[in-house]
Amino acid sequence: MSEPRIIDLRSDTVTLPTPAMREAMASAEVGDDVFSEDPTVRRLEQMAAERMGKEAAVFVASGTMGNLVCLLAHCGRGDEAIVGSEAHVLHYEAGGVPGLGGIQLRTVPNDAHGMLDLDAVEATIRPQNVHFPRTAAVCLENTHNRCGGAVITPEETAAVARLAHRHGVAVHLDGARIFNAAIALGVAPSELTAEVDSVSFCLSKGLSAPVGSLVCGAADFVARARRMRKMVGGGMRQVGVIAAPGIVALETMVERLAEDHQNARLLAQGLAQIPGLRIDPESVQTNIVVVGVDDPSFPGRLREAGVLTTGFGPTRVRMVTHYGITRQDIEEALERVRRVVEAAA
Ligand SMILES: Cc1ncc(COP(=O)(O)O)c(C=O)c1O
Repeated sequence: MSEPRIIDLRSDTVTLPTPAMREAMASAEVGDDVFSEDPTVRRLEQMAAERMGKEAAVFVASGTMGNLVCLLAHCGRGDEAIVGSEAHVLHYEAGGVPGLGGIQLRTVPNDAHGMLDLDAVEATIRPQNVHFPRTAAVCLENTHNRCGGAVITPEETAAVARLAHRHGVAVHLDGARIFNAAIALGVAPSELTAEVDSVSFCLSKGLSAPVGSLVCGAADFVARARRMRKMVGGGMRQVGVIAAPGIVALETMVERLAEDHQNARLLAQGLAQIPGLRIDPESVQTNIVVVGVDDPSFPGRLREAGVLTTGFGPTRVRMVTHYGITRQDIEEALERVRRVVEAAA
């Protein structure tokens, strides 16, 4: 008997470049990007800035590098950045912001949909005092990974930004999946970024490009971020070859994210019917599904059945829909989950 087809729900980062992306890579016009002479990178940066409603953008290697250079550009050593208790930058970026930037991260609890309580943020901003670090930035995340792909609205984003700005504090938005948020809310991404000082977004997740993220903001901010990119070794040369698929991603892969969201909802609805699995399908807003389980061996048994997942701890299993996953894959994955659960009963 042949092995069952693997259904890979670990992450939208497993997406493969489309044929159009590969063609664009092969024919990309290139130059030395550290000298700002790569026309393809310049075009991608211009497109990114336009989409985010900002003056300028700089191409970086990853979402992690995007968050790092933004916080390096907003904060000095010994400064403090306020982040959500579930933030990606806090949990999954190898401690780079404090480790490399000397920037202290201070948390405010994320609510279930990834938002920060305004009073809690205000109470966490440090008053001026010789004893205290300076609060230099507040970070938001949209969509929110550990909060199950939840979205925050333009109004919620603006409320945090206005509060921070009243205290002279900058706002950075980790918008790794900002296009998922925009599609889910039916708004332009620029509405979600209108009041923030910086935003980074990824090309290599749901948009399926092989590599890269963009940092966007005012021209003077992006000039500082560009310098920080050089400092961390992220100044790249003839990288039009990797910027070109990013252009294809922005031109052709944004609208189809709605399909991933529909598949995620379908998955959540099916999981909710299976005894022992805990999920409210109404809470699934984008392409990330987080299901509660009692048995920590569940992901391992599911893997044996050819369904790959990741987890937030032993009892929260994450499943992500993406360009490589069809509606039929979701139906098949649900069938396999049912079999795995029944076999353990
Ligand atoms: C919300 C969020 N921010 C940042 C990143 C980091 O992106 P990268 O893996 O490209 O460094 C991720 C990656 O999953 C993410 O989910």
